[in-house]
Amino acid sequence: MHTAISLLALAGLGYASILSALDGTSAKLFTGCVTKGDAALTFDDGPYLWNKNVSDICAANGAKVTFFLNAYNWDCMYQSWYNVNYTDSLLYALSKEHQLASHTYSHKDMTTLNQTTLDREIDWNNLAIKRMTGCMPAFLRPPYGSYNDTVLMEIGKRNMTACLWDFDSQDSWTGANATNSKKAYDQGVSSAQGSMLALNHETYSNSSPDFTVFDVLPYAIDLIQSYGFNLVTVAECLGQKPYLSTGPPSKRDWTWYCQES
Ligand SMILES: *[C@@H]1O[C@H](CO)[C@@H](O)[C@H](O)[C@H]1NC(C)=O
Ligand SMILES: *[C@@H]1O[C@H](CO)[C@@H](O)[C@H](O)[C@H]1NC(C)=O
Ligand SMILES: *[C@@H]1O[C@H](CO)[C@@H](O)[C@H](O)[C@H]1NC(C)=O
Ligand SMILES: *[C@@H]1O[C@H](CO)[C@@H](O)[C@H](O)[C@H]1NC(C)=O
Ligand SMILES: *[C@@H]1O[C@H](CO)[C@@H](O)[C@H](O)[C@H]1NC(C)=O
Ligand SMILES: *[C@@H]1O[C@H](CO)[C@@H](O)[C@H](O)[C@H]1NC(C)=O
Ligand SMILES: [Zn+2]
Repeated sequence: MHTAISLLALAGLGYASILSALDGTSAKLFTGCVTKGDAALTFDDGPYLWNKNVSDICAANGAKVTFFLNAYNWDCMYQSWYNVNYTDSLLYALSKEHQLASHTYSHKDMTTLNQTTLDREIDWNNLAIKRMTGCMPAFLRPPYGSYNDTVLMEIGKRNMTACLWDFDSQDSWTGANATNSKKAYDQGVSSAQGSMLALNHETYSNSSPDFTVFDVLPYAIDLIQSYGFNLVTVAECLGQKPYLSTGPPSKRDWTWYCQES
């Protein structure tokens, strides 16, 4: 009976959908922490110039954070991980017990991609993280928070978990400044329902030093801790493992090169 219904249901789907329906389950999608009393600060779109500063500022204040990373950042030269400086930043973040997670390879809207590009966006980023750190990330945040069932199925196929947020520091909003972002934190923390999963970016700044990192972050840490929250990684606040596997980093060789997906 069950089988007959399933086959009938599948008959209405395309070939690709049948394949993914048969060979995996949809990824779990979290929009907030599950452990009450936890707050997870997340930083998207890096690693960028101030990545080590985020690691340092948080570590100095007993905070663990999570980086949702793109291996191909803006271009293949300076902002790609295949630039040795960023490999270094990632290992540094790990040494401070922060979590590394995927934000896909080049930050495309996953719901606009064909199968080939969708696979590359997920797998090339995982490969880059794995090569540089030895860790295979268990978490993925779809760029722009944009996903559909196909996307979740692809993430699930790889045993990864999808993660959004329930608070936006607004630092990627056009024209937002540190004052706007701090106000957002004031409101967000005081109205938090027992936990908080906060979206920030390493990269958005009209000027150096970056306001998210050097102005808002210390303020947010102080504020959140004054409300009694523990600042932990996404994996911790969801009670899950941060990585599908861990091991030593690989040795850089000629196969480590950047290309568009
Ligand atoms: C950011 O970190 C670097 C070391 O990675 C340090 O040299 C620099 O002074 C820091 N910037 C600020 C503004 O603290
Ligand atoms: C790496 O960082 C150093 C020091 O900031 C800089 O001089 C160098 O140009 C960077 N390397 C690349 C490939 O961007
Ligand atoms: C998700 O988006 C992709 C790309 O536009 C599309 O091919 C796919 O059919 C969509 N899946 C669902 C379940 O809507
Ligand atoms: C998938 O999309 C990419 C990028 O738009 C394109 O270059 C490629 O030809 C497409 N592949 C297929 C099989 O349609
Ligand atoms: C996903 O997890 C299952 C069960 O642990 C395992 O059999 C499978 O190989 C994993 N797949 C991937 C792509 O890691
Ligand atoms: C920040 O932006 C707001 C507008 O949203 C503006 O009123 C305020 O003056 C700005 N603050 C600073 C310090 O630039
Ligand atoms: Zn992003």
